Amino acid sequence: MTERETWATRLGFILAAVGSAVGLGNIWRFPFQTADNGGAAFLVVYLASMLIIGIPAILAEFVIGRRANTDAIGAFRSLGKSNWRFVGAIGILASFWTLSYYSVIGGWVARYVAGSVTGSALAAPEGYFGAISVGLPSVVTHAVFMTTVIVIVAAGIERGIELATKFMVPSVIVLLIGLAVYAVTLPGSGQGYGFFLTPDFGVVATNFTSILPLAFGQALFSLSLGFSVMITYASYLGRDDSLFADGLLIAVTNTFVGMLAGLVVLPLLFAAGVQPGEGGVGAVFISIPTALASLPGGGLVGRAVGVVFFAVVLVAALSSAISLLEAAVAYAVDTFGLGRVPAAVGLGVGAFALGIPSAIDTAWLEWFDGIGVTLLLPLGVLSVVLFVGWAMGSAATEELRDGMGLGGVSPIWLWTLRTVVLLVVLVVVALNFQDLFLTPNAGDYYIVPPLG
Ligand code: PHE
Repeated sequence: MTERETWATRLGFILAAVGSAVGLGNIWRFPFQTADNGGAAFLVVYLASMLIIGIPAILAEFVIGRRANTDAIGAFRSLGKSNWRFVGAIGILASFWTLSYYSVIGGWVARYVAGSVTGSALAAPEGYFGAISVGLPSVVTHAVFMTTVIVIVAAGIERGIELATKFMVPSVIVLLIGLAVYAVTLPGSGQGYGFFLTPDFGVVATNFTSILPLAFGQALFSLSLGFSVMITYASYLGRDDSLFADGLLIAVTNTFVGMLAGLVVLPLLFAAGVQPGEGGVGAVFISIPTALASLPGGGLVGRAVGVVFFAVVLVAALSSAISLLEAAVAYAVDTFGLGRVPAAVGLGVGAFALGIPSAIDTAWLEWFDGIGVTLLLPLGVLSVVLFVGWAMGSAATEELRDGMGLGGVSPIWLWTLRTVVLLVVLVVVALNFQDLFLTPNAGDYYIVPPLG
């Protein structure tokens, strides 16, 4: 058997992990979740979840991955805890599941880049979205997006994922900063900042049980946690990295990009007088082009900004989608000794097939997203926390300390995981279960697939 691949450089790993974290979650999901759930009030709970739950949890996934040095299911065998293999299995199932519809949205985004070039996406936004988001056109763009993902993953860790994300992540950040600066110049954008950045703590307090699971789910989805993805990426790390420093840097960059996206989208909408609310998967695809069409300077400006905006979203989506596929591919390669190319093709085609219902009908896409984020994700995170906090114990602190310098924080981290993190995750799991199983047709999600 050939030697297992590793990241060529530490920066390569960081960029790949940031590439995974920064995606549709930040740019498509985050601004609208925020808009739907009380603006800045949601932001506060999101930031708190990121800090209190997200950072300890990302370190937990890193610790498993680097220590085991193999795929996310094999990891538990290699750590001598075969009974815990279900932890990795939930994550890999979650990432495969999510990839299926993530690629559908990625395909729409690609279509919007083209539609901004020609101007057709801006001319009649609602009609355009209705035409490209369902049926055959959507299946075709889904296929194109998935093919790109397969090609990058098949090329390998260093020559595929690391090389691609080295270009993708810096471009996304630079272009988003450019767009945010442009948004400042728009007349009327001020209201957008107010809505985004002035929290009403009364709203947080009265709606806490409904905001908490959403903001929590958003924060963890955004950090790619509970999907075995960070376990897999960390398994390609060398021993001399500081997991703590890297995790912190990745979380901070991801939050920064999420904020930037909000600072682009919300001012843009408010400047155009477009309502940010009206959630749903199509929101960003309808309201953004509507806002773009009304930008000062005529149609050409709107189209140019549209091209840049959707190109940013497309690149961000791609660098996340490759991590979703890699979790399953690593399993096929490490555990079954399959070649990387057939594994990437086979699993990619499988995820494509699973995504066909979502491509045909957006109700299915919403259902897949709901199950992924409210059911699989919290269960994935819960099982990681239980494993690292209780089954791994001192091996976990030892692993975190390796290559770190700041050895003192390890026990604090472990105890945070065992107490605060565990408690919050349990509360969220309970709230989600109540919403999914005990409240008939509650919230946006339903456990019954949208048949007919
Ligand atoms: N973090 C990605 C985003 O925000 C989505 C993702 C989730 C990617 C889980 C990988 C694993 O879009």
